[in-house]
Order: sequence, then C-alpha cells, then structure tokens
Amino acid sequence: MKIIIPNDVISVPMSLKRNQQLWSGCGDMLFINHDVGKLAIKRTKVPKQVTHPRISQSAVALKRKAHSYQVERHFYKYHACELIPPCNTASYLGEGGANGMDYIVFRDFSSQGFVQVDKPSEEQIMAVIGWLAKFHAHFLQSPAEHVWEQGNYWHLETRPDEFKRMADGEVKQAASLLHHKIKNSYWHTWIHGDAKLANFAFNGEQALGFDFQYVGKGIGVSDLMLFITSVLDEQAQLLYADDYLKLYLDTLRVELLGKAASIDVAQLLSEWEALWPVVWADFYRFLLGWKPDHFKINKYMKFQTQIALQQGR
Ligand SMILES: Nc1ncnc2c1ncn2[C@@H]1O[C@H](COP(=O)(O)OP(=O)(O)OP(=O)(O)O)[C@@H](O)[C@H]1O
Ligand SMILES: [Mg+2]
Repeated sequence: MKIIIPNDVISVPMSLKRNQQLWSGCGDMLFINHDVGKLAIKRTKVPKQVTHPRISQSAVALKRKAHSYQVERHFYKYHACELIPPCNTASYLGEGGANGMDYIVFRDFSSQGFVQVDKPSEEQIMAVIGWLAKFHAHFLQSPAEHVWEQGNYWHLETRPDEFKRMADGEVKQAASLLHHKIKNSYWHTWIHGDAKLANFAFNGEQALGFDFQYVGKGIGVSDLMLFITSVLDEQAQLLYADDYLKLYLDTLRVELLGKAASIDVAQLLSEWEALWPVVWADFYRFLLGWKPDHFKINKYMKFQTQIALQQGR
C-alpha cells in the first residue's frame, strides 16, 4: 500500500510546539488522521549543533545521529517486515524527504491498542525479554549490511569524546579490552541497540518495539542489560537481574532449537552468559564519561564490573 502524505501536511514547520519533539532538536513526531487511519510520522533533520547540555563537541555526535536515522529507515524498509508477531514492531508505511528533512510514516501504534507505560507489570517485562530473544534469534550471525557495524549508542568506538572526558581509573584502563571481548564474540546477532522501556509499547501482555536508530551487530545480552537498567532499580537488580538473564537465555534456547544445525546453541549461550559482566562494565565505562553521577550507576553495575575486571584477558 502506498501512502500519500499531502505536502502541506508533511511540511508544517518543525518548531510547532504541539508536535512531540525528538531527541535534542533533531526532529519531531507528527500525528495525523489519514484515510487509512491514525499515522505517526517521524520527521528528522539533524541541526548544525544539537541542543544538549552535555554535548558541545560536534562532528562525531552529529555524524552518529545523522547516520542513526539512515540506519533506522533502512531497517524499517527492508527488515522490520521479516519479523512476525509476537516480535511486533511499529507498522512501517513508507518514507520520504521534503524541505531538507527526512520522514518515516508509521501506523500510530495507539490505534492498534499499544500504549507506553512507566511501570511495566512482571508480564510486560517478560514480554520484552521474549521479544528480545526472538529478535536476536532471527538475526543470528547476520552480516551488518546497512546497519551499524556495531549496534548500540555507547560502544567505545562511537564515544571518543566521552572516553577522553573519563577520569583515569581501572575501568578506563580496561575499556579497550572489554570492548574487544564484546566485539570479538564468535556468536553475534543484530541488537536493537537502544532497548530501553521507553522504546516499547504494550497491548496487554504483548510488546511492540520501535526506535531502531542503533540497530546493528552485537551480542544479545547487551540489549537485555540496557532494558534491565530501565525497569529495575538497584535493589531489584541485585535481587532479580540474574533471574531475568536466565529467563532470557532459556527463551533464546527455545527460539534457536531447530533453527539451523550449524548453531551450537550450548556454546552460544555460554559465550553470551560469560559476557554478561562485560556488557555491564562496558556501559559503566560509557556512563563514567557521559555523566559520572548518572542514576543508573549502582551496586549491581559495579559488582558486575568487578567480575569483568577480574576476568582479565
Ligand atoms: N508508530 C508510532 N505510533 C505512536 N507513537 C509513536 C510511534 N513511533 C514513535 N512514537 C512516539 O514518538 C516518540 C519518539 O519516537 P522514537 O523513540 O522513535 O524517537 P527518538 O529519537 O528516540 O525520540 P526520543 O529520544 O524523544 O525517544 C516515542 O517515544 C513515541 O511516544
Ligand atoms: Mg525513543
């Protein structure tokens, strides 16, 4: 189905306050009623300088941001349709460009009964974990073509500015080693790359994922780690994070059984499980350079980081 969006609709100025703004002045969401139903249109245009209190550098951050929108368009155009429920994604209806901005047209997921939540139920947390396991199983060992060579927004190679800002210490010294452990994992997949709660919507106990700007090659447990940082506080992480890891690995096992004889499922699960402390330490490294008093830095993250550091080479 080809959706035609009238030019006067798509070209309304981005500064209109009633539009939902995207990250740091990089665009907005337009919500409109169309003959085919309610639409959500993500319009993007990366400015010369992003309006963010902690970003004063330019070239690296702006290039990363601009590329992230290209990656997202590619993902929706060519890959989102491969995913079948219950690994739901926002329904993609088309894309285009007008007046120096790009846009992607989606069905508004609220018209399909999906809503965003601040406090997910236990079932909704499990739904996202199931969603991640299916997503990772689907893209297992896929080459990174037109998506990020390394998915997620915090990996070391994409964060030279934050690395420079980091105070010296054991995490900084181990940063490259941690990074390479993740990068050199034999088993890899495509990760969502920004799998926080805010990028999922729910219809009862079904999850729908969106915002694929940082999709790319990676290891499944890094998505799970970021998701956990967005739904469990320190105490809950200390009590339950390991149980959710087990649930994720068990679900992934089920998803992979029968997929291909060439997949050594036991070896894959044990490789990713061993990298669990490493993905926490790697994210801790990013936060120390980005905002050293970030609320996500807690005892569980530091505990996992110590395990990763002690593993050494
Ligand atoms: N298909 C959709 N239907 C309804 N709402 C949507 C849809 N896609 C995005 N949104 C809304 O727009 C917001 C921003 O979209 P998205 O997460 O893709 O962009 P973003 O660049 O990450 O912006 P932000 O950094 O503000 O989250 C979402 O949090 C959601 O509220
Ligand atoms: Mg988002």
